[in-house]
Amino acid sequence: MDTTGQAPRWKVTLADNTVDEQEIEAVTAVLRSRWLSVGEQTRLFEQEFAAKLGVPDAVAVSSGTAALHLAAMSLDLRPGDEVIVPSLSFVASAEVIALCGGVPVFADVRSPADLTIDPADVRRLITSRTRAIVGMHYGGYVADTAALRACADEHCLRLIEDAAHAPVVRQGELMAGTWGDIGCFSFFATKNVTTGEGGMVVARDAGLRDHIRRMRSHCIATSAWDRMRTGAVDYDVAAVGLNYRPTDISSALGRVQLGKLDIDRDRRRGLVATYRAALSGVDIPFAAARTDSAHHLMAVLLPPGLNRERVRADLATAGIQTSVHYPPTHRFSFYRRLFASGTRVLPVTESVAPRLLSLPLHSRMSDDDAVFVADRLSASVRNLTTTVIPR
Ligand SMILES: Cc1ncc(COP(=O)(O)O)c(C=O)c1O
Repeated sequence: MDTTGQAPRWKVTLADNTVDEQEIEAVTAVLRSRWLSVGEQTRLFEQEFAAKLGVPDAVAVSSGTAALHLAAMSLDLRPGDEVIVPSLSFVASAEVIALCGGVPVFADVRSPADLTIDPADVRRLITSRTRAIVGMHYGGYVADTAALRACADEHCLRLIEDAAHAPVVRQGELMAGTWGDIGCFSFFATKNVTTGEGGMVVARDAGLRDHIRRMRSHCIATSAWDRMRTGAVDYDVAAVGLNYRPTDISSALGRVQLGKLDIDRDRRRGLVATYRAALSGVDIPFAAARTDSAHHLMAVLLPPGLNRERVRADLATAGIQTSVHYPPTHRFSFYRRLFASGTRVLPVTESVAPRLLSLPLHSRMSDDDAVFVADRLSASVRNLTTTVIPR
């Protein structure tokens, strides 16, 4: 590792963040204040994040998974209750349902050109046991939230948005994360807004939001910050909760990051345009997307049948770090073993999953980096295609 924490073998890393002296100063000021857990910085971070989304309030938590877990807990699932989730997502979208005693029912994505949950498949999967739908905004491209909202309303279901990839992305009259009853965000180290580890929950209903805020801290009626300020010592516990509190250190970091989001977004948008112009021999999902995106991931689809590991090895040899978002959740042994829905065939997910490849995308990259990656990828695909399919 070098002083930036990056493994030196990569010329172009998959992800990076925009942390600089501003964050260091903000964090140092919190350390100097010696109030390290939830306090004023967290309250300000919540208010500033909520203002960006055009909602009255938000609840900062310790991770995106914590945000999703609190959302799932708020469903009060009974054993056998079903929640429809995309299989093509990070496992957290489904695991919190299983953790709460529910059954994740895996839905397909729309097409190779749109890797978000298919509202038509969601409709087919609704049963008398369905309690909620989870939409995930793949790579920062927002799922068809209007269709999901209509479907949830028709069937009296909760809509949860896993907006881990999509902080502050407008879709129609609302921001991603605010179409649902609950929106969950992640501030993990590779996310567009990072606090190292962290997350945020927004909820339409003020009562639900307050409940989530209480569950974040054991359902204790008052916070340590309140008790410190007022001198109160008594508290009640009216329901079960957890410790999913963020720290004021991470919240101070998040506030600075939030202020950098627009510049970061512009750079990412430019890099995606450069990639799209320079790439050949691969399909590019969301190329025709009409709404804005957070441009969190630069995913491409390799030609069917091409050996992805060999492509990744070629790129790694050139110093280019890649990843795969995601191995489908319904194929993991736990989900295959436990749930009948794990054996369901999801034709689009199954066909795109072996072809997916995520290329480097972050605002410390230059356009030359993107062209370098695109050229190397295109050459690798050309060579391997020639090898695999003899003339
Ligand atoms: C789509 C998605 N959902 C949920 C999560 C979980 O977020 P976290 O890593 O902050 O727990 C992530 C991030 O890793 C994610 O990409």
